[in-house]
Amino acid sequence: MKLLIDNADIEQIKRIYDLYPIDGVTTNPSILAASGRHPYDVLGDIRAFIGDDADLHVQAVARDAAGMIREAKKITEELGRNTYVKIPCVPEGFKAMKALSAEGYNLTGTAVYTPMQAYLAAKSGAKYIAPYINRIDNMGYDGVQVAKDIHDIFTANNMEAGLLAASFKNSQQVLELAKYGVLAATVSPDVIDAFVKNTAITSAVDAFIADFEKLTGPGKTMADL
Ligand code: E4P
Repeated sequence: MKLLIDNADIEQIKRIYDLYPIDGVTTNPSILAASGRHPYDVLGDIRAFIGDDADLHVQAVARDAAGMIREAKKITEELGRNTYVKIPCVPEGFKAMKALSAEGYNLTGTAVYTPMQAYLAAKSGAKYIAPYINRIDNMGYDGVQVAKDIHDIFTANNMEAGLLAASFKNSQQVLELAKYGVLAATVSPDVIDAFVKNTAITSAVDAFIADFEKLTGPGKTMADL
């Protein structure tokens, strides 16, 4: 499963990239708004930092297909043709996806709450489909199960699209989908940090260091001997 950062704070992106094995960055209009910066300034900084080969996902906001198509052209001119344009899975979005996929654009179907949206987006040529796990949970349904159903639909129908599962609020939601073998998950920095935020882990490492220092002296490591 690929692991992406769902955030546009360049300092947070640099910090998480430094620590963990990360495959790219996703944004949405709310995430860009939180940055308080011009969208192409912040996205340009992200692209420059992650490099041309890493996945970068940027959402279109137009309500009609013609507007989404114009945005896809501008987004990829500014940020590279390999940038994934996120298109909301609404009727005008499917129309835009069909036209853009025919021209070879990389597309992510987003704002996915139901398997039928995912099926239509995959058929319309999106390579990634982004179900919103926690938002589905908050509606009283099972977000992880919806994502598994979408994965099963793609497998059963030999569809090329894969999941870019999104909107996570805890490690368990991510873990369940890693076990299921979905293509990718995009996760906020605080939830990525929480993957390994566990006193059992830190106290085990502290005990190893304390034992080693009893043997070799304070601050010594295997490199110093
Ligand atoms: C994907 O990029 C989605 O826009 C995002 O994960 C939504 O997350 P939220 O439900 O935490 O806003």
